[in-house]
Amino acid sequence: MIPVRFEIITIFPEYFIQFKSIGTIGRAIENGLIQINTHNPRDYSKDKHRSVDDYPYGGGPGMVMKPEPVLECLDSLGEPAPFRILLSPQGELWNQNLALHLSQKTERFALICGRYEGFDERIRIAGADLDISIGDYVLSGGEAAACVVIETMSRHISGVVGDSESVTSDSLGGNLLKHPQYTRPPEYRGLRVPEILLSGDHRKIQKWREEMSIENTKRKRPDLFTCKDDLKGDKKSVCRGSEDPDEF
Ligand code: ADE
Repeated sequence: MIPVRFEIITIFPEYFIQFKSIGTIGRAIENGLIQINTHNPRDYSKDKHRSVDDYPYGGGPGMVMKPEPVLECLDSLGEPAPFRILLSPQGELWNQNLALHLSQKTERFALICGRYEGFDERIRIAGADLDISIGDYVLSGGEAAACVVIETMSRHISGVVGDSESVTSDSLGGNLLKHPQYTRPPEYRGLRVPEILLSGDHRKIQKWREEMSIENTKRKRPDLFTCKDDLKGDKKSVCRGSEDPDEF
């Protein structure tokens, strides 16, 4: 099996050392299912200070990432070019559906991490197939976002999560949150495990789980539930990330 490759464009390659060696991601690398490589735009800077940022034209606070080091770093990845994802608070909001779609799209991805106050717009225009935001807040750089994107996509790659059912039953699969879960002991601090889970009746347990999953979603994330109804009514646009992946 060919590993899925993630090429991270970052001026902080050391950020990913722990990420690559721990847990699900560490095992997936060890088992040859994924590869994570880092590429530093500083190595493509032409000036003696190896600078990758500059003042914004028109003035204003902060520095902007220069186009040449990032675009030349991307060029160095060769042909065929990977699917290029720019991590930015202006991007499409990341979610489970988008993670699933992208994980099936191709076998090589570039993740472009920004620092400073933002990117020269030509990086976005000439260097990205898709902009992704992991949430409506501003990080100091795209590195944490790259970890989120890689980890959520990797969970959908065959063999990465031991029991594939645990991925399909994850919260947010099909826009539903997961049902509540319990393990031993059957009673703790006066709180009892629901009787039905101790009954051994798998058909009833399955039905209970489905009902709880719907109830959980309605109560905690009514927005997801609305999205589910809209999908049935063919109002796809309100449900971000459920679109046809070939659109990108
Ligand atoms: N870089 C800075 N903020 C970000 C966000 N919310 N998502 C992705 N990349 C970012």
